[in-house]
Amino acid sequence: MVKRSSGELLFSITVDRSLGKSITTQVYGAIRQLITSGDLPAGKRLPSSRTLAKELDISRTTAMAVFERLTSEGLIVSRTGSGSYVSDFAETRKPEKSLQVEPAGPVSTKLADIITDASPRFFQRLSHPSRPRAFVTGLPDYYAFPLAVWARLTAKHWREARDEIMGYSDANGHPRLRSAIAEHLRANRGLSCDVEQIFIVNGAQQAFDLVGRVLLNPGDPVWFENPGAIGARNSLIACGARMVPVPVDTEGISVESGLRLAPDFRLAFVTPSHQHPTGVEMSLARRSELLEAANRNSAWIIEDDYDGEFRYDGRPLPTLKSGDAGERVIYVGTFSKTMFPALRLGFYIAPKPLVPVFQRISGAFLQGVPSSIQAVLAAFIEEGHFATHLRRMREIYAERHAAFHASAARHLDGLLKLNRSVAGFHVFGKFASPSMDEDRVSADATDAGLVVSPIGRFCIDRREVEPGLVLGVSAIDERAIGKGVETLARVLERHHT
Ligand SMILES: Cc1ncc(COP(=O)(O)O)c(C=O)c1O
Repeated sequence: MVKRSSGELLFSITVDRSLGKSITTQVYGAIRQLITSGDLPAGKRLPSSRTLAKELDISRTTAMAVFERLTSEGLIVSRTGSGSYVSDFAETRKPEKSLQVEPAGPVSTKLADIITDASPRFFQRLSHPSRPRAFVTGLPDYYAFPLAVWARLTAKHWREARDEIMGYSDANGHPRLRSAIAEHLRANRGLSCDVEQIFIVNGAQQAFDLVGRVLLNPGDPVWFENPGAIGARNSLIACGARMVPVPVDTEGISVESGLRLAPDFRLAFVTPSHQHPTGVEMSLARRSELLEAANRNSAWIIEDDYDGEFRYDGRPLPTLKSGDAGERVIYVGTFSKTMFPALRLGFYIAPKPLVPVFQRISGAFLQGVPSSIQAVLAAFIEEGHFATHLRRMREIYAERHAAFHASAARHLDGLLKLNRSVAGFHVFGKFASPSMDEDRVSADATDAGLVVSPIGRFCIDRREVEPGLVLGVSAIDERAIGKGVETLARVLERHHT
């Protein structure tokens, strides 16, 4: 390597007066970098501040300020009469060039091992798509959200008394939000509970994780709808559950099959209002069977009511929790669909006997979610904006479902057999030709600019589930739905045999 003199190195420093940074900081930073990188080694003499000022076209005062700063940090020393030198101390502050840091290998911990074992089968999709386009699932149309109202309520919140808004808040959830949720559920979902039973969490996903960790021992059998929800499945696997895939028929989870496969189940995970992802609504008879099985076994049930507010042909059936006389159901709700996912707010309703346990856990180590966002949501509900928004979104989504089915009747007939869909954000369709390969169709659809979700991704056990696609229709307008359906038809035609 060609050695360059300190003068050469220092005079090549460039000063950019258009940057928002002071000239002193720029020159000091550049010299410091030369010293710490070793390009200016210990003992090297620096040009005088006068020469530096002249060569860099900066003022003498600036050059002297740079030298003072380097001296005060111990990077250079001045010797009277002979100039400034790079100090020995600078040598010790240089990054150790010869130190070889081994890149970290795979980490092994209990959770990491469980996830690593499960990954090849279950973790194909780790993140949610975050932009609306045909046919992304699970996204509300947040372009229709009244953001101005939200901004006004947020600004109002931050003008309240500091003691109210800045201290530690109730780890179980903001009292006003818990009351607002209790009232909303009583009026709209036929569900009565004490405010103390409601716990606010950072989305439904946190509730699944928490409930699994609190109520399950590793290896406990869990009935899980097959096909079923990906996020909840991953959480329960991570809790060490023994997942028992239970088939879903036209009435919901098959309790009879569950009892045959794992009569000693400790927990059942279900989506009764709108089975995820097939869209089946759990019949009243099946609800009674499930509650009875849980009561007999002293097992728990997680009821995930993720999109139960969106029903387009009349009022939704009551929640499973509303018939839970035996206190076996943990009801989980989310604001990701009714409001928007980035809010990261959800809640669960604990059976009365579990309230003290969950209170202790929240207080001891969870410490809740930010109170500001909870308080703003409470005001949004109390002032009636939530109910208005839900009504409006129900109409919008109903129109989109109708548009999808009308377009599908024209273009997808003979290609996809669509399930009846009267609720939620998505539609499930089986391939008319069962020999079609979901993953190849999906890859082709991606190339054509679509997002489709093969049903296989939602399955623990693939054997009994016919191939097909889950298509989200809520986040895009009718024009985009129509265009998406035509594109999908062209993709499917290429694979149809
Ligand atoms: C079945 C199901 N339940 C619940 C949720 C909501 O999860 P979160 O509240 O953590 O956003 C989702 C999200 O996509 C889901 O698919």
